Amino acid sequence: MLKALTAILLVTFTGIMLFSFTLESPTDGPDGKSIKKGRQMFMNKCASCHRLSTEESIGPGLENITKRQTKEEIVLWALNHKERIDLGDPYAKELYVKYKYYVPTKSGLNETTAGNVFDFLYSLDNDGM
Ligand code: HEC
Repeated sequence: MLKALTAILLVTFTGIMLFSFTLESPTDGPDGKSIKKGRQMFMNKCASCHRLSTEESIGPGLENITKRQTKEEIVLWALNHKERIDLGDPYAKELYVKYKYYVPTKSGLNETTAGNVFDFLYSLDNDGM
């Protein structure tokens, strides 16, 4: 009887451990790892043209960008500025006219690393880190 009870407790305990482990490691949320990777990506691929403040550089300052644009929109910019403009979005076109420049080539990021950049920007806009 006692043995059976111990076994049940053990199984339950293991179950809870596994469950909480799953909860603690989301695969696509803005967790620390994704944010760190995004910061690295941003420094390599975006910082030459974008400040993290509101100050303008070659492109607009990106402070509070995640409050102005959706994740999908920002990921698209990160992947390919030209495609974002080519889609005919009037806002993208207006920016292009204003800055008289767009990035003609793809950034070399993929959906995952562009998502990391978003998580990094999101964490800044929401007082993370
Ligand atoms: C060679 C310069 C350059 C690089 C590198 C660059 N951008 Fe841009 N970015 C611009 C310019 C110029 C604009 C405005 C004109 C345009 O492209 O539409 C812009 C616009 C944007 C916008 C819209 C800003 C707003 O105020 O709505 C976002 C978001 C953005 N870029 C994100 C990124 C991300 C993320 C990266 C890195 C993966 C990146 N950019 C790399 C020059 C650059």
